[in-house]
Amino acid sequence: MVKRKAEVEAILKKYGQEHLLNNFDKLDEAHKEKLLDEIENIDFELIQSLYESTNKKHKREDDKIEPMEYLDKYKLNEKYKYYENIGKKAIKEGKLAAVTMAGGQGTRLGHDGPKGTFDIGLDSHKSLFELLCDSLKEEGKKYGVTIPWFIMTSRENNDDTIKFFEKNKYFGYQKDKNIFFFVQGELPMIDTEGKIILNEEGLVKLAADGHGGIYESLVKSGMTYKMKSMGIEWVFIGGVDNCLVKMVDPVLMGIAIDKKVTVACKSVVKANPHEKVGVFCKKNGRPNVIEYSEITDEMAEATDDNGELLYGESHILCNLFSVEAIERMGANPLPYHVAFKKATYMDKNGEIVVPDSPNAYKFEAFLFDAFGVVDEMAILRVKREEEFAPVKNADSAGVDCPKTARELYKKFYHLD
Ligand code: UD1
Repeated sequence: MVKRKAEVEAILKKYGQEHLLNNFDKLDEAHKEKLLDEIENIDFELIQSLYESTNKKHKREDDKIEPMEYLDKYKLNEKYKYYENIGKKAIKEGKLAAVTMAGGQGTRLGHDGPKGTFDIGLDSHKSLFELLCDSLKEEGKKYGVTIPWFIMTSRENNDDTIKFFEKNKYFGYQKDKNIFFFVQGELPMIDTEGKIILNEEGLVKLAADGHGGIYESLVKSGMTYKMKSMGIEWVFIGGVDNCLVKMVDPVLMGIAIDKKVTVACKSVVKANPHEKVGVFCKKNGRPNVIEYSEITDEMAEATDDNGELLYGESHILCNLFSVEAIERMGANPLPYHVAFKKATYMDKNGEIVVPDSPNAYKFEAFLFDAFGVVDEMAILRVKREEEFAPVKNADSAGVDCPKTARELYKKFYHLD
């Protein structure tokens, strides 16, 4: 351990991160080992460039942003059946799998646990996971197949998620046969001086690196290999927090297959210019999404000659990929977006500090930043009331909360 520690010290010195071992002697043996492991796994060059990026503003003026074309599911006329039949055939042949991104906690909802375990307050008291599984089972039945389900967890919630599924007998699915779990990646958090911070246990403070890491995680965890060996060619990737998410959609699949695109995404019309959703666009001629936190007011409010929002196709995290596109995307590093957060940490004297204002940077890659890898993708506008009932905030917020999601869910399934 002495030799190993000396090697680690040399690395830390090179990158000005020596403070990480300040409290080393106070740790027990297991924590000492763990801390050294963690440090050895840090890509310090990346951390350095991420820190530099916190001071740089990306100049949007340099990018050419244009609206993106889309198809409206309910204006396809005779083409509707045509696409649907193509998609149905592929689903019946077992070519579709679903992936649910469930790395998040229910913190914003005041829920202590993985977001997928949250009960939105239906009479059945079913969790988000169960609601999603119900819909997968119902759709699978229509086509005489079981849609394989892949669930992305985070280190923070992986054990709790799996325990929850075990307790609920995987809602009728079978672990390692048609339900699989994989864990998303993480990155260290850094302070305003670019120093990596320690958590309450004296280990590196890690935070989920955003859902943009999903492609790499799917490849590295062997999931894409598994998919291919199961004959899966298409993967629907959606969030865990939309209780109306329609993961099996033959029309969307038929469009992707017929148009020979490797990515096909659903959109709904933006409810108002400042709704908290990303919007589809073309950036420098390639498919892209501008996130709500990064769009200018001018762009958000711009309208066309008919008075419709120019950037009005909302990204609802309902995206279909070919397995091959996932592999390609997994091989290309994505840019990271910076968030300034409150993070409890251990200071250099071994004291725990609970800050009352943001003190540390967290870095997240967004899945849609990979869209630019493909030349063309299809966008299918669907109806909000049929496919988009997100649960993001506590009821007090009044929008995208359990109450609104519950109402939409009940209306769609005629539960009243
Ligand atoms: C997200 C989208 C936004 C879209 C909106 C629709 C991003 C960055 N933005 O916003 O474009 O219009 O949903 O509802 O996603 N997740 C992980 N691991 C992570 C981060 C997130 O699994 O590291 C999962 C969450 O569990 C959730 C989903 O990704 O299922 C969305 O994440 P969230 O952070 O809630 O995104 P929003 O800000 O709501």
